[in-house]
Amino acid sequence: MPVITNIEDLRLLAQRRVPRMFYDYADSGSWTESTYRANEADFDKLLFRQRVAVNMEPRSTRTTMIGQEVAMPVAIAPTGLTGMQHADGEILAAKASKKAGIPFTLSTMSICSIEDVADATGGHPFWFQLYVMRDRDFIERLIDRAKAANCSALVLTLDLQILGQRHKDLKNGLSAPPKLTIGNIVNMMTKPRWCLGMLGTPRRKFGNIVGHVKGVDNMGSLAEWTAAQFDPRLSWSDVEWIRNRWGGKLILKGIQDVEDAHLAVGTGADAIIVSNHGGRQLDGAPSSISALPEIADAVGSRIEVHMDGGIRSGQHVLKAVALGAKGTYIGRAMLYGLGAMGEEGVEIALEIIRKELDLSMAFCGRTDINAVDRGILLGARTH
Ligand code: FNR
Repeated sequence: MPVITNIEDLRLLAQRRVPRMFYDYADSGSWTESTYRANEADFDKLLFRQRVAVNMEPRSTRTTMIGQEVAMPVAIAPTGLTGMQHADGEILAAKASKKAGIPFTLSTMSICSIEDVADATGGHPFWFQLYVMRDRDFIERLIDRAKAANCSALVLTLDLQILGQRHKDLKNGLSAPPKLTIGNIVNMMTKPRWCLGMLGTPRRKFGNIVGHVKGVDNMGSLAEWTAAQFDPRLSWSDVEWIRNRWGGKLILKGIQDVEDAHLAVGTGADAIIVSNHGGRQLDGAPSSISALPEIADAVGSRIEVHMDGGIRSGQHVLKAVALGAKGTYIGRAMLYGLGAMGEEGVEIALEIIRKELDLSMAFCGRTDINAVDRGILLGARTH
């Protein structure tokens, strides 16, 4: 067993342990993957100002996101098919987040259902991410199910009315459960831990959807189903309707543009997430960290600004906070931990990020995350 000291170690282990179809689903972006790569690479363009002989004790990374206490400004991003990276993946990631004192966001496209996660975490509040589909009755029922499960925020994703093309998913024939082609069977035989886990759980389909949508008892290809069900006509008036139906804390995910950020403020939402869906939708869009400062400057005094995309270390979290993010989210950093070592892997990923954040903050001469501002950076801007 290798010694794990960073997120890249977890990624390499996940690559060995997770069947290719699902590993590729996580570790890919759309088309040329240029935005996917830029999300991570653009963090390197920002340099820290090191300070010395500053009292570095005591230190705290505690803060709030939408008024809720968090042990650090990091939440788990919603990711579809998480229960295919590891058996019962959403339940395990939710438990690890609860232990770490940070929010867990469950995707509409999860394998474990809203009710499964609520039961397994003893009613501990988590966040639910909503995709808007053509079947509005289904959306209403999903919102009601999230309320009944004690979810403490709704994350409404606005950047997936249509699906970006990811070459690998098409080539691998991504589906849940995986189709038993010869290629898939041969590949899965090299992943015995994963297979054992899957044989031991009944959760192998889209738990929020299969059995809850008229006529959907099983699902074929994810791409085909998404193309048929996701609503390309989504508009700001739908946001209004969802906000009223939900009635609780609302976070709008997928904002990339200042004009859209202003429109988002107008909906009365509690926060926006500057995000390009982890480089999985519009390839050629700017990295999230480069889009963040302008949006934070424009609307940061009127709405909480969060960001995600490319975060693989606590240093990335610190840079995002310095540029105006009140909170951040990790998608792949969590998935790699989960695929590598299940619940323990997610705990390790979160602890790695927490420690890197804490130490880097101290090196910059700050002891409280709430006091971090652009002054910790050397003035480099990524745009
Ligand atoms: C996602 N993302 C996503 N977002 C969302 O709102 N609903 C979803 O179901 C999914 N599904 C999903 C699957 C996978 C495998 C990935 C990698 C991402 C986007 C996600 O919430 C987040 O925006 C990005 O993952 C952030 O980038 P990093 O942290 O993965 O670089």
